[in-house]
Amino acid sequence: MSATIAFVNPKGGTGKTTACINIAASLAARGKKVLVVDADPLGAATPGLGVVPRPSRTLYDALCSRRIDLSTLETCEKGVFLLPSTPDLAGAEVELARMDNRENVLKDALARMREPFDFVFVDSPPSVGLLSVNAIEAADSLIVPVTADYFALEALGRFFRILSLMGKADAVTGIAVFGVGRSLAARQAEDEMRKWFGSTVFETVIPKSARVAEAGSYGVSVGTHAPGSKGAAAFDALADEFLARVQTL
Ligand SMILES: Nc1ncnc2c1ncn2[C@@H]1O[C@H](COP(=O)(O)OP(=O)(O)OP(=O)(O)O)[C@@H](O)[C@H]1O
Ligand SMILES: [Mg+2]
Repeated sequence: MSATIAFVNPKGGTGKTTACINIAASLAARGKKVLVVDADPLGAATPGLGVVPRPSRTLYDALCSRRIDLSTLETCEKGVFLLPSTPDLAGAEVELARMDNRENVLKDALARMREPFDFVFVDSPPSVGLLSVNAIEAADSLIVPVTADYFALEALGRFFRILSLMGKADAVTGIAVFGVGRSLAARQAEDEMRKWFGSTVFETVIPKSARVAEAGSYGVSVGTHAPGSKGAAAFDALADEFLARVQTL
């Protein structure tokens, strides 16, 4: 039985897509079969996994033609599969609003999937709109990537209040901190996150690394682009922590 994990944070540029791709690749390297669902109309996970989607095989079709079976694409990362998005997905937000049970359309679509996966990772857009709500409702657990800075800390508190209103705050398996350098302000922001959110914050901090950013632009994980780099090692350590937490769920 697969576990569905949504990478969520309505704040933009916090590392959702980077965490999603690189943890997926690290798990796949250990023999797990992982599906990445690109639920962002701007679709960074799709090029980030080196895929050019064909129009009839996107998440938009799976959501808006509610009877269509999901078909997934192979990526350059062995063991990582993709349900891609195109800009059409922006229209799904409008169409979802008119549907019955509109918060659970993605959950229903994933239930129609025939192919078995160990993990389904949903990469959410930076919003609290219906696509993000669908990602959260479809998920067994949530990973919240966050940058170590003061505004991100403020936004994190607000996001947890939104999750509480949705009855989903307890579904957060981990907060993954992306370091923004060695400044005092970054260290203080990380300390505050650990003070407020305790052991929900993963111990591993993803360091700022040119290799991590480059890997995305080459359509591969940092483990493939720069094996042995500190970024690759950090994502392996984060994947270890992730596995330990989901196995105890
Ligand atoms: N550890 C890192 N070191 C350097 N750059 C990074 C690192 N992690 C992510 N980045 C870069 O930061 C940017 C934002 O990361 P990413 O796209 O993963 O965030 P996101 O939360 O998915 O953004 P959005 O909210 O727009 O979907 C990207 O350009 C990415 O390549
Ligand atoms: Mg993203």
